[in-house]
Amino acid sequence: MHSYSKSTLCVHKGTIIDKEDEGANSPVYTSTSFGYLDKDTPMYPRYFNTKNQQALAEKISALENGERALAFSSGMAAITSTLYSLLSQGDHIIFQSALYGGTIKFITRDLNRFGISYSFVNSTHIEDFEAAIQQNTKAIYIETPSNPLLKITDLEELARLAKANNITSIIDNTFASPVNQNPIDWWMDIVIHSATKYLNGHSDVTAGAVISSKENIENIWEVARNLGGSLNAQICSLLERSLKTLYIRVKAQNENAHQLAHFLEAHQRIKKVWYPGLKSHIGHETAKKQMSGFGGMLSFEPEHSSIIELQKRLELIRPAVSLGGIDSTICSPALTSHKGLTQEEREREGISDTMLRLSVGIEDPDDLIKDLDQALESL
Ligand SMILES: Cc1ncc(COP(=O)(O)O)c(C=O)c1O
Repeated sequence: MHSYSKSTLCVHKGTIIDKEDEGANSPVYTSTSFGYLDKDTPMYPRYFNTKNQQALAEKISALENGERALAFSSGMAAITSTLYSLLSQGDHIIFQSALYGGTIKFITRDLNRFGISYSFVNSTHIEDFEAAIQQNTKAIYIETPSNPLLKITDLEELARLAKANNITSIIDNTFASPVNQNPIDWWMDIVIHSATKYLNGHSDVTAGAVISSKENIENIWEVARNLGGSLNAQICSLLERSLKTLYIRVKAQNENAHQLAHFLEAHQRIKKVWYPGLKSHIGHETAKKQMSGFGGMLSFEPEHSSIIELQKRLELIRPAVSLGGIDSTICSPALTSHKGLTQEEREREGISDTMLRLSVGIEDPDDLIKDLDQALESL
C-alpha cells in the first residue's frame, strides 16, 4: 500500500480484515490472555503485540514514512520510553529549550538522577546545537514548530549534524502532525507524537506514538514493555477510527488557522501574531521548505493585558488546556503549558504573561473570526 497518498492511508492502512463478515472496521480483540503453546512470544497487551495495537501502529508508521511504530498510553509514555532506551549513565543529550513543559519537567527532575547529563539550547540555529555537542552526546531532541512561539528548526540541517557526529536525532512532531511534516523524509531518526492531540483530534483519548527504523523500535520496545505504557484494545480502536479523518481534519485546521492568522495580524488590537504561514514569521522560509501545511496552532499578543477577561468573553472558542481537537481552544501558555517555568525562564524563552495560544478547530472560519473580533472589541 506504499504508493497510496496520505488521505488514503489514513482511511485504510493497517485495518484488520474481517474475513468472516467483511465488516468495514478492524474487529476489536479485548482479550488480555492468549494461547502460548505454539508461539515464541505470546500476545499480551503490555508487549505491544496484540492485533489492535499492531493495526494502529501500522497506520501511524505509514503516515510518518517510518519502518515501524509503537502506540503508547500517552505522549509522555512515548517520550520517556524512548529516552530511557537511548540513554545510559554517563551519556549526554541536547534538548532544544522550547519544549513541551511536561518534557522539560521530566528532563530536569529525572535525568541527572540516573547519571545522564543534558544541555538546553535556546536557539534554532544549527551552529548552536553543534556547539553543545560533547564527546559523550548520544542524542539531540527538538520540537518544530515549537510551543507556543512556533519556532522552526531546519530538520535537514539538524539531521545532517546528528549523523555527522553519530548522534540520534529525535523530534516531537505533535504540533505539525504527519499530515504537515514527515521528519523521517528529512533524515531525522525518531519521531514522537502525543496522539492525544491531532492524531486523535477529538479530545477524548490519551495516547502517544513513536515511529522510526525497525532497529530503533526494537530497542525502544525492550524498555517500553518494562515501563508498561501500552494501550488497550478499545482505545486503539478509537484512535484508529479517529485517524481515518486525520487528513481532512488537519487540512481544514491549516486553512482555518491561516485565515485567523491573517485576520489577527491586521487587527488593530493585536500587537503580534506568531504563525509559520505568515511571511512575518521568522521561520517562514524553513517552514515552507519542510512542511506541506503550516498547521492549526498560532499564538498572539493582544494590546489589552486582561487576557483572562478576553478569554471569558469568547462565546465559541473555549478556554482550555491541550490542543489539536476539532473544536477551537485558547489558552495562556504562562498559566498552562509553561506554568512550571519561572518568570525568568519564560522571559528567556520569549513567552510573555499576556500571550495567548490558539488551537484552531474545524468550525467555519468566519464564525471563529467573528468570535475573536467581538471579544477583542468588547474590551
Ligand atoms: C508537544 C507535546 N508533546 C508531548 C505532550 C505530552 O503528551 P501527553 O499529554 O499525551 O502525555 C504534549 C502534551 O500537551 C505536547 O503538547
